[in-house]
Amino acid sequence: MLVLGIETSCDETAAAIVKDGREILASKVYSQIKTHQEWGGVVPELASREHLLYINEVIEQCFELAQLNFSQIDLIAVTNGPGLLGSLLVGINTAKTLSWIYNKDLVTVNHLHGHICANYLESDFQPPFLCLLVSGGHTQIIKVDDYSDYQILGTSIDDACGEAFDKVAKLLDLDYPGGPSLDKLAQSVADAKVSHRNIEAKAIINGCYKFPVAQVANYDFSFSGLKTAVLRLKQRISAELWNLDKAKIAYAFQETVAKTLIQKMKKACADTGIKKIVLAGGVAANSKIRTEFSNEFSELNGFSISKPKLEYCTDNAAMIASAGFFEQKKASRDLNFTAFSR
Ligand code: KG4
Ligand code: ZN
Repeated sequence: MLVLGIETSCDETAAAIVKDGREILASKVYSQIKTHQEWGGVVPELASREHLLYINEVIEQCFELAQLNFSQIDLIAVTNGPGLLGSLLVGINTAKTLSWIYNKDLVTVNHLHGHICANYLESDFQPPFLCLLVSGGHTQIIKVDDYSDYQILGTSIDDACGEAFDKVAKLLDLDYPGGPSLDKLAQSVADAKVSHRNIEAKAIINGCYKFPVAQVANYDFSFSGLKTAVLRLKQRISAELWNLDKAKIAYAFQETVAKTLIQKMKKACADTGIKKIVLAGGVAANSKIRTEFSNEFSELNGFSISKPKLEYCTDNAAMIASAGFFEQKKASRDLNFTAFSR
């Protein structure tokens, strides 16, 4: 079955054609980073307009790349939420128009379900498993029993993990999008730590900052305290030291986030007895989190772990097409639906 996926929930305009939920025939993402960079964050009104400008182009590029025409598509899958309403409406309206013109069934996809399905792309990974979904708007531990049967065990009670990355990156005067910039900055300390013979590296390790891991009940998370701890540090130390130590501070922040996520996942694994875990969402692209999860949840420790390829961690339409395939029972020609923001 060939599914055309359409994703416009935030600041990426994306289309993809995926076969049987797993094989990517084409995937195109137009990133709006440049547009939003000068504002330091996503401007919803600008995002909607950019989607409108680029959505046809990314779809056409996919058909060209896959050497297919529209009549060969079996199903259209489109994200209908959660996300920015104006942005979602562009994707939805495009999907409805294509469904109507070409007489194709349409299925709506929850963006978060899409992120989980990124783990099925170019892989034979199968449920059941525990998923840690970490994105710009969500932090959740999800018990995935089957392709469309899942249960949220825990969530963030304040800032989402990606949101904390973005806010701390702002404190550090890093470019939008903050998460990848902070990751890169922290990487310089991590690289230095690897070379133990280096005297400078030893000095870096000794001079590292430490932030506390928030203790929250059950499987829930809290990141606002950590963000505030970084802010308090900035207020407490001299501007000179702050500027000098930005990379170390970024490293310590990232290390604390990784520790927090691992602690909760370990608890969820112990309580449910599930030893198969997956990462999903934009923050799953973080180098430290990927490495730490691989070490903690290794085969040696009796676990199996799946992480989407970097380009399928952040928003894309291949994951939406995959989710559409696994939700095909819900597909119809009923175009009487709209977007939801949360
Ligand atoms: O899944 P995603 O593309 O969009 C949402 O559904 O929110 O996630 C975007 C989030 C942003 O907060 C971004 O800063 C974060 O993922 N992110 C990262 C990295 N790459 C993206 N955070 C930390 N390290 C990264 N390498
Ligand atoms: Zn996302």
